[in-house]
Amino acid sequence: MVTPYEAIGQDTLEAVIDRFYSYVEDDTRINHLFPGDFTETARKQKQFLTQFLGGPSLYTAEHGHPMLRMRHLPFKITTFERDAWIDDMTRALHDFDMDSELRTFILERLKMTATHMVNSEE
Ligand code: HEM
Repeated sequence: MVTPYEAIGQDTLEAVIDRFYSYVEDDTRINHLFPGDFTETARKQKQFLTQFLGGPSLYTAEHGHPMLRMRHLPFKITTFERDAWIDDMTRALHDFDMDSELRTFILERLKMTATHMVNSEE
């Protein structure tokens, strides 16, 4: 069985993530939450999504257990911020040529994880 990671390929995955953060950088709904420089954030996200999609456990090797919800607790995330994150990721994934079922599968998994990050009602 080909993993989603193998299906999208490391190069496209990294390009999607760079594009995603370029959208986040311009997105006034959420850009204030991030440090001014996205280099390190993007590097960690590449490691994380590699393992999230079935590739090597790069994130865990360097940072330990992801504990993503806990790592997001310092930031106030309501459904508003979640939806902004998902919008930017949806745009980024549509900027690259890939199988539409693969894109839908990846987006659905990311939407579930993004909803799990919601830590505030208003
Ligand atoms: C880190 C925001 C959803 C994965 C961060 C950071 C912010 C943030 C502000 C810290 C950036 C930094 O200091 O470098 C958000 C918001 C989300 C969201 C507003 C909306 C729901 C997600 C989702 C994933 C994810 C869905 C994974 C699928 C990560 C990772 C890090 C991170 C891997 C780096 C953690 C670390 O420091 O090791 N996020 N995030 N985030 N986020 Fe999110």
